[in-house]
Amino acid sequence: MLYDVIVVGSGIAGLFSALYAKKTGCSVAILTKSNPFRSNSAVASGGINAVININEYDSILHHINDTIAGSDGLVNEKNISDMCHDAPDIIEELREMGVGFDADNCGKLKQRPFGGTSAKRTCYIADRTGSAIVQKLLMECRNAGVHILSNHQFLSIAKYKEKLSGVTVLRRRDSQVIAFACKSLVLAGGGYAGIYRGHSTNSQESSGDIIAAALRAKMKLSNMEFVQFHPTTLVTNGALVSEAARGEGAYLVDETGERFTDELQTRDKLSREITEHIINGHKVYLDFRHLSPELIETKLPSTQKMALNSAGIDVTKELLEVTPSAHYSIGGIWTRGDTSTDIPGIFACGECAVTGVHGANRLGGNSLLEGIYFGRLAGSEAAKRVKRHDFLPIDYAVISKELRRIDLIIDGESHFNINAMRKNLGETLFKKVGVFRDESTLVDAYEYASYLFKKQYGLHCVNKDRENNVELSSILEFKNALYIAEAMILSALKREESRGVHYRNDFPSRDDEKFSSPSYVKLLDENLFEITFENVALDDLWHRFKKVFTKLKG
Ligand code: FUM
Repeated sequence: MLYDVIVVGSGIAGLFSALYAKKTGCSVAILTKSNPFRSNSAVASGGINAVININEYDSILHHINDTIAGSDGLVNEKNISDMCHDAPDIIEELREMGVGFDADNCGKLKQRPFGGTSAKRTCYIADRTGSAIVQKLLMECRNAGVHILSNHQFLSIAKYKEKLSGVTVLRRRDSQVIAFACKSLVLAGGGYAGIYRGHSTNSQESSGDIIAAALRAKMKLSNMEFVQFHPTTLVTNGALVSEAARGEGAYLVDETGERFTDELQTRDKLSREITEHIINGHKVYLDFRHLSPELIETKLPSTQKMALNSAGIDVTKELLEVTPSAHYSIGGIWTRGDTSTDIPGIFACGECAVTGVHGANRLGGNSLLEGIYFGRLAGSEAAKRVKRHDFLPIDYAVISKELRRIDLIIDGESHFNINAMRKNLGETLFKKVGVFRDESTLVDAYEYASYLFKKQYGLHCVNKDRENNVELSSILEFKNALYIAEAMILSALKREESRGVHYRNDFPSRDDEKFSSPSYVKLLDENLFEITFENVALDDLWHRFKKVFTKLKG
């Protein structure tokens, strides 16, 4: 099958890029392995940041400055500025599509405060903002003629003479390997926080499939050590208790009933305070009891329902116990300002991409914004390229390699239990590569991940059925998760400082002299990772040299 542009992923970034590519007349398909409502975009409930009214309390410059301050360095200030300037138009575009943001009787949008922001800047639809936007975008894509192929699990990038020629996917319906040719490819397939299984707000499907495939295609990854923990998730299963709750005034208290922290500080700091409090023997709860039932019903209905259904707690009367869990991957595929990557024709956006707007810590409400801003850009850039390029052949060797891999996983004799391995990986990452980490915990985690890496070759399906084989999908996801885990742990080991969400007990300060650069990961061989940082001194020299050079030329 052939499409001018293929988009992998059906979260907000993927949907927007497909829509923008389609607007130019290209043929466009979205490949997605499951239900778009399981994406992290749909889970991001609390809202999207944009300065709607410029006044004495807020301005676009405030939005830019808050984002830079929250990031703890490593940011791309130009990208932040472009994104924040575009945010009001993005809200307008969503409203024109029919997204019903909460507004007062005069139609003025309501906004709530989120952590690390100096003003009420988060636009919302109660506490189901992400899913409401995804719903509208799916309709827009369908109406525009984008083909949405669900139940297609991404396997690999196909290259012809080192240039993009297409992708291979697993059609889950019958476990067939299918190849699609394309002129441009947009990678928008989400992050990897789901590999912290049992301690993550993500569905277990967020195992970094796209990022692992990019790594195997020898693409450059960046900042893999930065995984954001959401401060408030259910102790029982890691389900998200949206920041909307704290934005609307819920308190964080311990078993004494006393508040012990500032609920609206940035997520990195708040997650550390809560974790420390728990380590010191306390329990931590969200307290909604002082909020009016009407406010809870209108602004936090999903939270109220989820607390009752998942924890048996009536938040109007009882405390809801919470703990931090892995929520968002800041690291991912390295991109330039126009979303292009180090393989011509491949663009990346959304959680799987590093655009430099989050630095070392993301502000709540900026991820939906980033997804839309860079999703639109990726779609337009991908479409532009289509006019200048032809389809390239797909090397059959790529397809047959994937066919053999799938056959082997299905047909071989099973030696291990995939569910136990996944759970153990999640547990180990949470304990050893969590809110706090140090050299010895990271080495432990690395040894365990390497052990699992060797064992994964013995993972085969117990169920040999080829129709919708869930076990096959889980094994493929787990294999990807292991690549991601190794890249993440090695990057965390190499970054010997504390910055944003990466806190090293053995290096508790930020070290700008050695680590003011993003980290980069490349896969040199099957299991040989190269982790590098830009040499700060050399970089400086280059800039100085460039200045002199420009002066001489001028
Ligand atoms: O808490 C939340 O609603 C999550 C929002 C986000 O990650 O941006």
